[in-house]
Order: sequence, then C-alpha cells, then structure tokens
Amino acid sequence: MKVHVLLGAPGSGKGTAAKQMLEAFSLTHLSTGDILRDAVSKGTEVGLRAKAYMAEGRLVDDDTVNGLVLARLQNVTGDMLFDGYPRTLSQARTLRDILSEKGMELGLVIDIDVPQSVLEARVVGRRVCENSACGAIYHLQTKAPKSAGVCDLCGNSLHQRTDDSVQAFRSRMEEFNRTFQPVLEFYKGSPNYRVVDGNRSPLAVFESLQQLF
Ligand code: AP5
Repeated sequence: MKVHVLLGAPGSGKGTAAKQMLEAFSLTHLSTGDILRDAVSKGTEVGLRAKAYMAEGRLVDDDTVNGLVLARLQNVTGDMLFDGYPRTLSQARTLRDILSEKGMELGLVIDIDVPQSVLEARVVGRRVCENSACGAIYHLQTKAPKSAGVCDLCGNSLHQRTDDSVQAFRSRMEEFNRTFQPVLEFYKGSPNYRVVDGNRSPLAVFESLQQLF
C-alpha cells in the first residue's frame, strides 16, 4: 500500500488535482484541510481547537494533525493520495515513521509549483460547494458555475471559505514560506520527488500528473 503526497502553496491546485486523480485512479483521498473543516463545522473538540487557527490562516499544531492522519489510516486498504499533509518538517518525519510502522510505502511526492504572484487571485476568487460530500471547487473568473452560486454537480450552494479573505490568505502564505523549505529539503533528495508546473490549465496539470503514475 502506497501513500502519494501532493505538496504546494495555498491555491496551487492540490485540491483540484486531487479530485481529477481520484476519478482517474483508484486512490483514497486524505486532505487534512477537509478533515479539519469538517471538524470545525461539526464543533468537535478538535474543531473547536482548530477553528481560530484556520480562520487566521495559521497552521494547526502538529500533534493534532498527526493524530487525525493516524486515525484516518486505521482502516484503509488501497493506495492513498495525501493533500495538505505533511506541511512541516515534524509532520514529514511523523509520516515517515507511521508508514514504516504500518508497513506502508511512500509513493510519489509531487510538488505543484506555482509562482506566488498568481496565488492570491486564485484563492480569493475560489468558491466551494457547501456539501462536503461533493466539495466541488470553482473560481469566479476561471471556473464559474453554470448558475451563479449553485454547484453544477450536486445543486447545493457555493460559499467562500473563511480563510479565503485577502488577509487570511496572506497569513497562510507567511506560514507556507516559513514551513515549506524544510519539507522540500526532506524530500528533494528522494527518488520519489517530482515537480509539476502548476501554472498551466487544470487539464494540462492533470495530464502531467497522469504521466507520473
Ligand atoms: P488546506 O485546505 O490544505 O489549504 P491550502 O493548503 O492552503 O490549500 P488550498 O485548499 O487553499 O488550495 P489548493 O492547493 O487545494 O487549491 P485548489 O485546488 O482549491 O488547509 C487549510 C487550513 O487548514 C490551513 O491554513 C491550516 O490552518 C489547516 N491545515 C490543513 N492541513 C494542515 C496541516 N497538515 N498542518 C497544520 N494545519 C493544517 O485551487 C484554488 C483555486 O484555484 C480554485 O478556485 C481553483 O478553481 C483554481 N485553480 C486550481 N488549479 C488551477 C489551475 N491549474 N489554473 C488556474 N486556476 C486553478
């Protein structure tokens, strides 16, 4: 059993690419952002702890996030695609240890590389389906729904994530710039590490990803 990892800045297209990959390949998706948002909306203990961090664009503490990942790995059988984890050196080390303990293998580690100058417009214009089981991702300019505010796929309403304000986005970029380099160094020498140019159309990005698998 393998765990593939998508790395990249906020708005680099990890979620969009993950949805395409899940349809094309038999993979189980693990997005720590989605798990945390779900916990916040349900008001669980983890959600109450994470809420303020997420709204301000700061990272949730490593112990909480590592615990969520470990719990999700309990009953998984097939290969997985991680999106948004690991994003600190401590999380990368923990993932290495978890995989080794569980007899699982690290698959591809794919860095979706996008210039920082284009990320803010992507994030601020993003709208997502409020139905978490659907979670379709749109953009007001580049991927608008057919009917304003309504999900093409399931008909539920679209909304803007609380951390997609300009201010929260800038905090998220600060966090990313503070934590990403050590993660990159951790994986860069590995034969599993790949870089994909994410500053192209979603289809072009997806085609590059398909070629890696
Ligand atoms: P998380 O949900 O993981 O957010 P993120 O990493 O900031 O990434 P995003 O979801 O913003 O962007 P994305 O790369 O998925 O882009 P998308 O495909 O949506 O984390 C949120 C928060 O949770 C964190 O800030 C933190 O508080 C907490 N958290 C999560 N994981 C954690 C962890 N491991 N440790 C600690 N805390 C954690 O695309 C964005 C937009 O661009 C969309 O509108 C889309 O339509 C558009 N788009 C996508 N691809 C393209 C393309 N190729 N060309 C043009 N537009 C595109």
